[in-house]
Amino acid sequence: MALPEGFLEDLKFRNPIEDVISSYVSLKRAGSNLVGLCPFHNEKSPSFTVFPATRGFYCFGCGAGGDAITFVMKAENLDYIGAVEHLCKRAGIEMPQDDYAKRRGEDDVKKARVFAANRDAARFYHDMLSKPEGQAGLAYLRSRGLSDAVIRRFGLGFAPDEFTLRKNLFLDHMMGLGYTEKELLASFLCAKSQKNGRLYPIFRNRVMFPVIDITGEVVAFGGRVMDASKPKYLNSSDTPGFKKSRTLFALNYAKHACAERLVLCEGYMDVIAVHAAGMPNAVATLGTAITAEQARIMARYTKEVVIAYDMDDAGRRAAEKAIHLLDGVGVRTKILKLNGAKDPDEFIRKYGADAFRLRLDDSENQFDYRCSTVIASHDLDDFNDRMACISELTALLATLHTDVERDVYIGRISEKLGIARESLKNDVLRARKRQERTREKEETRRQIQQSAGYGDRINPDRSKYRRAASAEESVLGILLLYPELLAEVVSGDIALCEDDFLTVFNRRVFAFLVRCREEHGRFDLGYLGEVFNDEEIGRITGMQVARTKLTQNDLSVIRDNIAVLREEGAKEKQKGGELSTDDLMNIIKSRKGN
Ligand code: CTP
Ligand code: MN
Repeated sequence: MALPEGFLEDLKFRNPIEDVISSYVSLKRAGSNLVGLCPFHNEKSPSFTVFPATRGFYCFGCGAGGDAITFVMKAENLDYIGAVEHLCKRAGIEMPQDDYAKRRGEDDVKKARVFAANRDAARFYHDMLSKPEGQAGLAYLRSRGLSDAVIRRFGLGFAPDEFTLRKNLFLDHMMGLGYTEKELLASFLCAKSQKNGRLYPIFRNRVMFPVIDITGEVVAFGGRVMDASKPKYLNSSDTPGFKKSRTLFALNYAKHACAERLVLCEGYMDVIAVHAAGMPNAVATLGTAITAEQARIMARYTKEVVIAYDMDDAGRRAAEKAIHLLDGVGVRTKILKLNGAKDPDEFIRKYGADAFRLRLDDSENQFDYRCSTVIASHDLDDFNDRMACISELTALLATLHTDVERDVYIGRISEKLGIARESLKNDVLRARKRQERTREKEETRRQIQQSAGYGDRINPDRSKYRRAASAEESVLGILLLYPELLAEVVSGDIALCEDDFLTVFNRRVFAFLVRCREEHGRFDLGYLGEVFNDEEIGRITGMQVARTKLTQNDLSVIRDNIAVLREEGAKEKQKGGELSTDDLMNIIKSRKGN
């Protein structure tokens, strides 16, 4: 918490939350607030609300919430300081430099140094291709059909076989540029020998694929062996400047060319082959299955993702996961079928760029794909099987959101299966009503469970101390809304303190409010990002928002709730020696562990 006094207030004053958010979400006025479709989950009617008065936002659908800084963190996929920096730029304010450098660091190594080291390493690996020690690498890349222009564009390179050469090329070079041992370790470029404590380069005798993030920084590497040895690829671990789960290979190029369609591949070589074939809109995850964060990032850049995975079992499962995650963020998906080749790279080399482009254009969309899977899994000549098939298709058709889409597919399928269009249509409508009812029931159950605290990951104590938790939340909600009341609440006859809180999460929030007042003179939602994660900030904002809907938010309400809280606390104390079933279970469990 070392941003200068008053800095956050100024930053937020110059970045009105409604302005910041409206460049991402189209907002409509609703009373003194604004509403729109939530950018963090897929919804059809707006539950995302911006509160200019408290300079916050909250989504009643998914619970995302916070202030302008939190919003930018989520929307731009940045860490706390990154978001502050983004807003500084937006408003033309100078970023407080000292702090910035300090806070960026992890283990004392600054993110900027890690980036610089990676950039210099990438240059070193690339330059190797024109040195005697790198000729094996150059020959390999060429054997994969890559032109010099493509090698240059992707900054591909080669890490020499230093152990065999008995040379310290990489280390000497990097040390010569002034990088310290600590920096090279933190950048995942070098490791330390357990035997003699000496530093050695992690990537050796591998062709190198630099990973460049959307701001153009080299953040990581993938290194491929040139024969059949294992592991085939070595990838950088997460570093202070790199999170695998939030990065997509080649998005730095694809982001300019993917507004309509993005091609999602499995490997580096596939992406490069697709780009080289004149379609610069391909990306890949980094040797891992697609994550929710990556899906959200894609949603920011494109409307449609064509999934170009290997079509073996593993690839199919990975595709299902991708469809599910992309669906959740409102991105259309299609599956690319590549007959006669195992992946896009092989397909393009075998059949050429035009053939690939044609496949892309008639790639099946997700819905067609699922329909054909259903149809293929039934024997349509068998009466019972045929009925089962129709009923599965009906359920599938019912999940389509728009009338137009439903109409198109009902037409196609009724024709394909030779059934009357009208009767299929009626079945689908009935199935829709059924699904609607189930959804509503589930939603109600979820809400009841949530207010009862069951399955509450953020505040697991909630179900145990229901009455206390809701009193705590009333107190916190009012304090979040009117931080100036805090002084009176913690002193005098009220003297609220941490020990009064029964649930751990709410106690943490209270402690944070108190600390904020001590350190900054006042609380601001903007400080939460230093200590709490996305979901937690959403929950905290939710407490504040809940109070804005009520008319009375003053000291007397706080007093009443504290009285409830203390009553509950006393009850707990009285139970004292008595063990609850939960405690008992815990003791039994811990005994078993011994
Ligand atoms: N991968 C990895 N580690 C491995 C194997 C694969 O990280 N041991 C990741 C890499 O990102 C790779 C992707 O998974 O690009 C796909 O793997 P694969 O299909 O085996 O490799 P290709 O990219 O197709 O490479 P190549 O064509 O050179 O075999
Ligand atoms: Mn391949």
